[in-house]
Amino acid sequence: MATCYHQSAFKLISSAFPPSNFHKPNHSIYVSQPLRCNLSLPSKTLVTEPEPVFTSVKSFAPATVANLGPGFDFLGCAVDGIGDFVTLRVDPQVRPGEISISDIDGVGNSAKKLSKNPNWNCAGIAAIAVMKMLNIRSVGLSLSLHKGLPLGSGLGSSAASAAAAAVAVNEIFGSHLSVSDLVLAGLESESKVSGYHADNVAPAIMGGFVLIRSYDPLELIQLKFPNEKDLFFVLVNPEFEAPTKKMRAALPTEITMSQHVWNSSQAGALVASVLQGDLKGLGVALSSDKIVEPTRAPLIPGMEAVKKAAIEAGAFGCTISGAGPTAVAITDDEGKGREIGDRMVDAFMKEGNLKASPMVKRLDRVGARLVSGIPR
Ligand code: HSE
Repeated sequence: MATCYHQSAFKLISSAFPPSNFHKPNHSIYVSQPLRCNLSLPSKTLVTEPEPVFTSVKSFAPATVANLGPGFDFLGCAVDGIGDFVTLRVDPQVRPGEISISDIDGVGNSAKKLSKNPNWNCAGIAAIAVMKMLNIRSVGLSLSLHKGLPLGSGLGSSAASAAAAAVAVNEIFGSHLSVSDLVLAGLESESKVSGYHADNVAPAIMGGFVLIRSYDPLELIQLKFPNEKDLFFVLVNPEFEAPTKKMRAALPTEITMSQHVWNSSQAGALVASVLQGDLKGLGVALSSDKIVEPTRAPLIPGMEAVKKAAIEAGAFGCTISGAGPTAVAITDDEGKGREIGDRMVDAFMKEGNLKASPMVKRLDRVGARLVSGIPR
């Protein structure tokens, strides 16, 4: 499946969130350097089955904003401070080579809505994919999922579960897989749930901004946003369901040459703005999509007014986060972000008759990580 094995991706660091014992990807190898994996190759597994190095691990993966306006299915970024947790342990009660989901809890009605059958659960599907890549036949695992992200919100909820699970399984067996293998495992989950797109799961695993240059072979480029620049995402989540499958079904099947030229140039400008840390340029590009947003925004009550309200309140730009219904705006100041969020909430109520809750978050530069582990 992947051509890029044995590139251990995670190292111990300390970070403000979650507070202790983190592992993080080594970004330096990915910046401006594409990661390639050939999806057309038959599934490849490790020849020697690795032994667990931990008896249990806890992992975290952040929320993500997919598309970023003109980057439908090929641009996304990770958002700091919210996400899903997976606790994974070696369990002699579980049949060797298999995984069981023991527990699901967290925000909203996640526990009721999500299946505990690992074949029908995002975390389970990704975990099984990683176990297959690692050739695990002698050890059974049990997994518990804590959802910090609401389902179907446009914040990459399914991708965060898949990313946290993929990282947990890889880490419990000593971290033999590369970042792109983990993205492929996450993609297996995403394709079953909503469609074959990596613009949530790649940034959930890698952190920061990620460009999916190609799907076959999978080629990922991490876009380095300057460390010294402040970037805040205003995320306003209305009480409205916008299932990704439905929002994808609404998309046009054909576009005009002028739409292609416009969106391509804006996506190029967005990438340049990220690399230069140009927030104004990023905002303009974020707001510029003439293909996907115009077909989806009318399906989310109040969205057009919310975007207008965000820009009028001083946001650099605003669009739909992923497939929606969350609206995302960007700014360079946290306090201003809160004001922008309040105006967006008002607009959702006034024009869409929807209650909504705002959050102001920074860019997550770390991606999926190990939070803690009990060595064997
Ligand atoms: N690129 C995907 C879409 C992301 O917009 O359908 C889904 O979160």
